[in-house]
Amino acid sequence: MKAEGLRLLKALTQAHSVPGYEDEVRDIFVEELREHGELGADQCGSVYCRKGRGAKVLVAGHMDEVGFRVQGILPNGFLKLVPVGGWWGHTLLAQRVEVKTSRGDKIIGTIASKPPHFLPESERSRVLGVESMFVDISAATQSEAEMWGVKLGDPVCPVSPWTPMRQEGHYMTKAFDNRVGMAGAIQVGQAAQATPCELIVAGTVQEEVGLRGAKALANVLEPDIAIVLEGPPADDTPGMPLSESQGALGRGVQIRLHDPSAIMNPRLARFAIETAIEEGIPHQVTVRTSGGTDAGSFNSANEGIPSVVLGTPARYIHSHNGIICTDDYFAMVALVLAMVKRLDQETVNGFTKFI
Ligand code: CO
Repeated sequence: MKAEGLRLLKALTQAHSVPGYEDEVRDIFVEELREHGELGADQCGSVYCRKGRGAKVLVAGHMDEVGFRVQGILPNGFLKLVPVGGWWGHTLLAQRVEVKTSRGDKIIGTIASKPPHFLPESERSRVLGVESMFVDISAATQSEAEMWGVKLGDPVCPVSPWTPMRQEGHYMTKAFDNRVGMAGAIQVGQAAQATPCELIVAGTVQEEVGLRGAKALANVLEPDIAIVLEGPPADDTPGMPLSESQGALGRGVQIRLHDPSAIMNPRLARFAIETAIEEGIPHQVTVRTSGGTDAGSFNSANEGIPSVVLGTPARYIHSHNGIICTDDYFAMVALVLAMVKRLDQETVNGFTKFI
């Protein structure tokens, strides 16, 4: 389980998979689950694998990561970007990105701006927006960039190698939001045996641009409940009081009860917490005042799908260098496996029995 998890996390974080162009993560999902159930996809590109009989329990991550698309090709060969998903200008300058052309070639470049030496003081001291930046892919002219296959709209992804850190279990790279969720969904799909429910593991598209893919997937699958797997921001860094932390590295799987996008079904959330306690799985309960996940879409889809979010906290998400502790990741996988083992029809019905 551990070696498999690390192998999956490495492969998935290195995949090029920005909103609307989730092909590389989807290919890994399909390859890994081909022999573990019945595969399917919806018309937006979200993908799933189902097995077993009983209440429909959806375990879903989102396949996309924050990235960009080519917005313009300048006469001197530089590219302009439009962000897809939330970026903070502070994290972008001098970072490497890769343009994926329609031929499948990957062209590396760096994000840059007018050098500070040429900027007036007023501009030097503020956060630059993506509109003031460009990508240098080494093309001399627009036509050279086009000859290399670069076109308007091509997806652009951060580049950051998979990096084990000195601290045991700590890893650094891009896209832990949400490749931890995808690795988790895949491992659950592979490891779960003879569940009392119909287990559907899935990867959604376009979460980072407004929880879009989850809506279509909910329509297609009509799940009875949704367990959303995420890579939420950690809050255990300088400037944030550790005593108030609800997402510290190494403290276990995060069980999210609330954020601006969703009030989780209280019974399902309690079931998650009680299962973690019974199984002795380290966990941290979270009420968030910002952020959102696919649970925001599932919660109000169809007739309302009870949802809960389980997370592996990651430092510096939406940047090139996120950091996780894999103990939290394995706690997340263990909790999902323990939950699906208990989710028989009666338990699932109980989450929505109001009269
Ligand atoms: Co996410």
